[in-house]
Amino acid sequence: MTAQILDGKAIAAEIRTDIRHHVETIRASGGRAPGLAVILVGDNSASQVYVRNKRAACAEVGFHSELCELPETASQTELLDLIDRLNADPLIDGILVQLPLPAQMNEEAVIERILPTKDVDGFHPYNVGRLVLRMPLLRPCTPKGVMTMLARTGRELAGLDAVIIGQSNIVGRPMALELLAARCTVTICHSRTKDLAEKVRAADVLVAAVGRAQFVPGDWIKEGAIVIDVGINRGADGKLVGDVDFAACAERAAWITPVPGGVGPMTIASLLENTLQAAELFKS
Ligand code: GUN
Repeated sequence: MTAQILDGKAIAAEIRTDIRHHVETIRASGGRAPGLAVILVGDNSASQVYVRNKRAACAEVGFHSELCELPETASQTELLDLIDRLNADPLIDGILVQLPLPAQMNEEAVIERILPTKDVDGFHPYNVGRLVLRMPLLRPCTPKGVMTMLARTGRELAGLDAVIIGQSNIVGRPMALELLAARCTVTICHSRTKDLAEKVRAADVLVAAVGRAQFVPGDWIKEGAIVIDVGINRGADGKLVGDVDFAACAERAAWITPVPGGVGPMTIASLLENTLQAAELFKS
């Protein structure tokens, strides 16, 4: 089998077009555009690229966006004060604190300070709890984007065996909850998992979120599987590669996401969807 490509870049562009039209409609009837505040602490170069891409997407769809930068040496109190100000700002519907944060800061406390109704990353315990209870409100962006891509395959997900490699709060855990809600049988694998290859070989849906270049070889892939690659790594030649060996896995999978141009653009599209959702549900 040679896999069909799940073209995240193209699907995300369609979503942005829909959102842009929606914003035009809001503006035409005298409403204000949704607003997103992006907080960047320090000078992590990967974070700078992600934040730039998120703000460019906001500009494309006509959202108001604000970049709030704090130095690497900022105190936790300064960051919490900034979040308090944005929580109270009627022009801001969504607040995103780019992670990771410098070591002197407590990520959990920072995330909890964001109003759940403005938590467009879906990381606040309130929003995670709602996802656990199958009453989601603002859903974590990467897993939400993956579910949008899975829907595009047309494959019925109920009853499929889904395997996730990675147990992070940002991807692995919420991904498991999304797939469980879609009635998959879900296995979460991590660094202490025994017989990883055997577990992956049973996967009808594989989500790789390991953070290691080409970690999953082609012979781990079940014939006809859907392979979702969340990884973004630099290969030995400096090019971007995912967590799976794309060429080898594509020989066995029915569907596969490329890197770049797969999950990455879908994460940003989901962020735009969440910001619009927050604006519509909770606008002051
Ligand atoms: N760092 C890596 N991924 C993400 C994400 O989805 N949201 C935020 N805020 N930080 C991240």
